[in-house]
Amino acid sequence: MAELGLADHLANGPLDTAELARRCGAHAPSLRRVLRELAGMDLVRPAGTDAHDLTAKGTALRSDVPDSVRSSIRMLGEESFWYAIGMLPATVREGSSAFVKRYGHLYDHLAKNPATSSMFDEYMTRRALTFTVALAKRCSFPSTATLVDVAGGKGHILATVLHANPQMRGILFDLEHVAAHAERTLAAEGLSDRTEVVSGDFFASVPPGGDVYLLASVLHNWDDEDAVKIMRNVRRAMNPGGRVLILEVVLPDDETPHLGKDIDLRMLAIFNGGTERSREEYAVLLGQADLTLSDVVELSADASLIEAVPR
Ligand SMILES: C[S@@+](CC[C@H](N)C(=O)[O-])C[C@H]1O[C@@H](n2cnc3c(N)ncnc32)[C@H](O)[C@@H]1O
Repeated sequence: MAELGLADHLANGPLDTAELARRCGAHAPSLRRVLRELAGMDLVRPAGTDAHDLTAKGTALRSDVPDSVRSSIRMLGEESFWYAIGMLPATVREGSSAFVKRYGHLYDHLAKNPATSSMFDEYMTRRALTFTVALAKRCSFPSTATLVDVAGGKGHILATVLHANPQMRGILFDLEHVAAHAERTLAAEGLSDRTEVVSGDFFASVPPGGDVYLLASVLHNWDDEDAVKIMRNVRRAMNPGGRVLILEVVLPDDETPHLGKDIDLRMLAIFNGGTERSREEYAVLLGQADLTLSDVVELSADASLIEAVPR
């Protein structure tokens, strides 16, 4: 349903199966069987002979609603991500990612597959919405500060922070093929004059001269050794008196149920060494990059804001 965009096609009212199949490019008799199952799941409901309407629950699969889950469902069902989860038993047996064995490192895979890459960026953008607004509200930035969004993706987080802080400037840093998207996002947001987009590899260096360095959903993709390399480059680049903001899940130390433990298994499946961490683990990691963890605030079920300052 997410992949075919059925909810978007049904957004303006019921359609009969033949018309819906035509609009989403599907085989009508096959689609009819899918719709029968979806009706049983209360995602669509019959609306006359061989026609269907969207239910309230199905509306969450529209692309244009505030809490849309379409991009995350698409990402889960995308061929390589689906493979990663299906192969989790093999990954657990061997201790190395079956995904990496088949597709290579995620970011090399995305660089070679533009359709998957744009699906991933869309998913990251949606995912960030829940905590970006909280981030922009919670952080008081000096008006003249420059924020460097390290591995900032499409620029969606930077755009929200800059809109909330009209005097601030921003630098978005990411791999070349992602930076090109970010440039378009920031231009569309009317922020070209306050932003600079820089492409590069954070294992080599990150843009110098920032007052605030933001790393959102970056460190959990890497093992401790790589995460420390990235943080050392940030530490080297930052202005005196600067600070670091890390947005990640922070795992509880006990056995309480936590969404982070589920996300951690996705990291296990997709990356060699990718992992969620506890507060103590972040403190140790930051210490190795000559930084001190100064505060942790939970922003949403799957993101906390970890603040660090030079030691
Ligand atoms: C999980 S995404 C997070 C994007 C964004 N910060 C967010 O929260 O939506 C990780 C980002 O790291 C970038 N990245 C991966 N390897 C990189 C490298 N070696 N140098 C710079 N950026 C890299 C990817 O292109 C991707 O945009």
